[in-house]
Amino acid sequence: MNTIKIGLIGLGTVGGSVLQMLTENQDKVQNITGQRLSVKTIVVRDTEKHQAAVPEGVTLTSDLDAIINDPEIKIVVEVMGGVHPAKEIITQLLNAKKHVVTANKDLIASAGEELANIARENHCDLMYEASVAGGIPILRTIVNSFAADQILEVKGIVNGTTNYILTQMQRKNWSYDQALKKAQELGFAESDPTNDVAGIDAAYKMVILSQFSYGTHLKLDDMSVEGIQTISLKDVEQADAFGYTIKLLGISRRINGGVFAEVGPVLVPTDHPLATINNENNAVMVTGQAVGETLFYGPGAGGLPTANSVLSDIVSVTKNIVLETTGNAFNNYQSESGNVDAND
Ligand code: HSE
Repeated sequence: MNTIKIGLIGLGTVGGSVLQMLTENQDKVQNITGQRLSVKTIVVRDTEKHQAAVPEGVTLTSDLDAIINDPEIKIVVEVMGGVHPAKEIITQLLNAKKHVVTANKDLIASAGEELANIARENHCDLMYEASVAGGIPILRTIVNSFAADQILEVKGIVNGTTNYILTQMQRKNWSYDQALKKAQELGFAESDPTNDVAGIDAAYKMVILSQFSYGTHLKLDDMSVEGIQTISLKDVEQADAFGYTIKLLGISRRINGGVFAEVGPVLVPTDHPLATINNENNAVMVTGQAVGETLFYGPGAGGLPTANSVLSDIVSVTKNIVLETTGNAFNNYQSESGNVDAND
């Protein structure tokens, strides 16, 4: 049995869950890819803080070269977040011919095209399903299932922290500060939650969604971005009394040959599907010219849901490695009664 060694950069909420899922679901992943996937090296800033969380046999270090210079490590998962030094690190990894899987929306929204070019030059994969809407497989859905349709509009709730805050304010009468503190404790918020509450995290995700949906490279400056910092309990109560729910929405649509995109708090009628999306859940409505309106729903933040998206990218990269090295696509679907080989 071949083993593919993985490097992990960052061991916070998502990194810890990636490690957990890779360990717990080894056998299923092996059935699907024909490869054993194992984390060999983890790079963190503070090794002492994380030592207890690292399984026996896995190297924990603060030295990135331990991954870059290790020819055995083929796939690297970056879950440290932030644009710098993540951008420089991913550039080094790609130039060292490592395939990269990241959950880093700040980085992909601001330098995704540049990094994709570096990946292409090095014949490496750069994948980032987890960067948008946490556990919802929205990017591969747009790429695969809307491949032949014209996407007219993408809108939805793409930040779990603000949706959690607004839900607690509406349902439990919690204050904004109380709800934000709890979202941080639950691990939904970014380490500095300013980007969450100011709408910037949602805007990054709309940049990535717009790129996938329309092929346009929007910048944050092209969008109007407003957060929920000024929404009070009274606003939420008054909206409710008039039959509306306040939601932070990201909206993008094709208009006159261009793309319009914005993020801001919106009064959503309580009987609209987006008004029913609660807590840290996200929902993305994609309207295609042929298919019409579709809705994708699921957890938008949190360790395991986000790790699931990271793992789906790792599996895709592994299948590509198998295809490249053996010339055979390993594309099994697991069924109750055993493996069904899609190539048969
Ligand atoms: N802070 C982000 C959110 C995490 O709350 O949606 C997932 O991207």
